[in-house]
Amino acid sequence: MLTGKTLALCVTGSVAAYKAAHVARLLVKRGARVEVLLTRSAARFVGEVTFSGITGCAVRSDMWDPTFAGELHVDVATRADAILVVPATADALARMAQGRADDLVTATVLCAAGPVLAAPAMHPRMWAHPATQANVRALAAQGRVDLVGPVEGAVASGDVGMGRMVEPEAFVEAVVAALSGARGGGALAGVHVLVTAGPTYEPLDPVRFLGNRSSGKMGFAIAAEAARRGARVTLVAGPVSLGTPPGVRRVDVETAASMRAAVERALGAGGTGADAVVMAAAVADLRPAAPSASKIKKTSAPRSLVLAPNADILAGLGEARRARGDRLPLLVGFALETGSDGEVLAYAREKLAAKHVDMVVANRADEALGTEASRVWVVGAGGEESVVSGPKGLIASSILDEVAARLAPLTRTDVRE
Ligand code: CTP
Repeated sequence: MLTGKTLALCVTGSVAAYKAAHVARLLVKRGARVEVLLTRSAARFVGEVTFSGITGCAVRSDMWDPTFAGELHVDVATRADAILVVPATADALARMAQGRADDLVTATVLCAAGPVLAAPAMHPRMWAHPATQANVRALAAQGRVDLVGPVEGAVASGDVGMGRMVEPEAFVEAVVAALSGARGGGALAGVHVLVTAGPTYEPLDPVRFLGNRSSGKMGFAIAAEAARRGARVTLVAGPVSLGTPPGVRRVDVETAASMRAAVERALGAGGTGADAVVMAAAVADLRPAAPSASKIKKTSAPRSLVLAPNADILAGLGEARRARGDRLPLLVGFALETGSDGEVLAYAREKLAAKHVDMVVANRADEALGTEASRVWVVGAGGEESVVSGPKGLIASSILDEVAARLAPLTRTDVRE
């Protein structure tokens, strides 16, 4: 699947560097030519000979290699179909976010002509540090480096948390997806999918907010799967700590109002800038009516809150589409409910009708919040109903099968002309 591809594998200095050797091996097995670049600290974890033995190519670590005529970083970046940073340390993320170019790896990344995928690996406290999170957000906003992982699990110190590098097999799948997405070969090639994910935070004062427990995992899984199928994906994300899936354009927002503005911007003035909108975000229905500009002190804190309603983004899209007499964008809503299975289904049908959308994906709060796997009912406007259970990736795939099936007859030409 990677035959004929040249990949620059940049290894930075973390204990997880040993996994880069496995990644190199998997890439070579899939037919790629792999050129390895090592930072100075990476070379202290895994030696050049390991990588040259696996790849059959010279390993580079010096920008000032006197045997190379020309500019090595420009040469590598131009030839590479993708640049992979495996593992990406907290320092590597910081330097990439800042656009630094003072060693061979960062200079090559800055000069990238194609996709750059990085697999962060660090201690969970380093990942959770606000400086690292700011760098992750900066990288997401720049849209030039896609993070694959990290995942939750044990790290080298024996501690457990978010920061472990994704497994080499999963990383290689992401590389294949990024390269096939770039070719537009998937079932959603040429389609623009707008996905919202995560909670919204509604400020009470500069330090407090009203929020909810949404992790964003479902929306991120849908965005990742849509990109894997070749769609152009815009992901409007509330405050979550998840890496941007490969090939996805991410816009970070905080409040329901800023989410609505980002959705409207992505859809353009006519409201038709996407073929499908998947509203997986848990948008707050209410916000504090008059957030305080300064921190509310205990002594003067009110005992009850006055709340104001937020605009319903999805219902607004449904109403506007109805007013236009259009069938695009396809609208998919989510319903997270408590209650019996029967009640959850009934709420889903109510939301489908009330918001004038094509599909509602319903799930139970006790099965869905923060979990890796779930069970959902997919309810369609034609009365169709199906149940899917499994990992969120599998659910994302079933939802997108439905989206693709519904979009297929709705080409832009026959809807608008
Ligand atoms: N939604 C939205 N804007 C809001 C609230 C919700 O776009 N202000 C979207 C969500 O993204 C989801 C769907 O509407 O796709 C269902 O949201 P939910 O809050 O469950 O529905 P409500 O109509 O607010 O009903 P209730 O909270 O009473 O269950």
